[in-house]
Amino acid sequence: MPRRVGVLTGGGDCPGLNAVIRAVARRSLDRGSEVIAVRAGWRGLVDGRFEPLGLREISGILPRGGTIIGTSRTNPFKTDGGVERVLEHTREAGLDALVAIGGEDTLGVAARLYREHDYPVVGVPKTIDNDLAATDYTFGFDTAVWIATEAIDRLHTTAESHNRVMVVEVMGRHTGWIAVMSGIAGGADVILIPEQPITVEQACEEIRRRHGRGKDFSIVVVSEGYELTYESGEQRVVAQEASARDQFGHVRFGGVGDVLAREIEERTGFETRVTVLGHVQRGGSPTPRDRVLATRYGLKAADLVEEGRFGRMAALHGDSVVDVSLEEATAELKTVPPHWYEVARAFFG
Ligand code: F6P
Repeated sequence: MPRRVGVLTGGGDCPGLNAVIRAVARRSLDRGSEVIAVRAGWRGLVDGRFEPLGLREISGILPRGGTIIGTSRTNPFKTDGGVERVLEHTREAGLDALVAIGGEDTLGVAARLYREHDYPVVGVPKTIDNDLAATDYTFGFDTAVWIATEAIDRLHTTAESHNRVMVVEVMGRHTGWIAVMSGIAGGADVILIPEQPITVEQACEEIRRRHGRGKDFSIVVVSEGYELTYESGEQRVVAQEASARDQFGHVRFGGVGDVLAREIEERTGFETRVTVLGHVQRGGSPTPRDRVLATRYGLKAADLVEEGRFGRMAALHGDSVVDVSLEEATAELKTVPPHWYEVARAFFG
């Protein structure tokens, strides 16, 4: 049945967003539906910022990073009159359905709108952090891991030339997925993640052990959300502007690598440098795997709209794209299970 389908991208951008937009639009346009871009995430629905999305607009966007329709970290539930304005603008724009592409925050809003207002929304799981429940993988993660792995490979050669310890700080606000996967792929000698916080003393011991067997350089991967943990039991969060939180209550991380590098140098006496990968992990073109996953998710979301199955999210289970409830997907975060960390740990020291 032809419909008016809105699409929005919310939260931190990530490679593959445009591939999803293209797939949702292509399938919906093929069915005779109209597709409307909602600008800048939930902000666009609060402010009523819409643009038509036709074949011309989506042409050539498959390999492009970022999002052609903009994003924001706006939470209508934390904006004065936000939810009422979302509902009003949805009515005014004549949207029959909305495809929300986002992570825990954007989809958390979608789940609540569906639950409390019967809002006609379906979700697509996006985030480089891969921490969304009810799906094996989010799109964007593969690209971030690829970028981090390439950085680790490059840092290996310079670490070896100078006999240095190189600390690489990677993203992953609450979870260590990027750190563990890129660390395994890049052959890291120590990996520190929020879920399994080994102590600073243990990390230094692994480095000393490695040097003791003749390896005079080391690569340490640390997840931005790792809390510096000491044998004494003391724990320390390193965050920027600790008082500034976004509308979803998140602090801005960044800086733990620097503190850790100083600790390692002081405690081991080995010359240490730090590289913070930051937003490089989110920029640029998606990997083929992310393009394919994003495309499959986009088609699935358009199908869910067609079937009127709102409150659902496209998800990957094994090799199949299925649908799960938004409620289930946003109930809790998907953390790195111990057995994954054990794979990484087999190569420490
Ligand atoms: O959730 C994705 C993510 O890249 C996190 O890994 C990181 O902590 C955060 O977003 C950074 O957000 P911002 O783009 O607002 O600096």
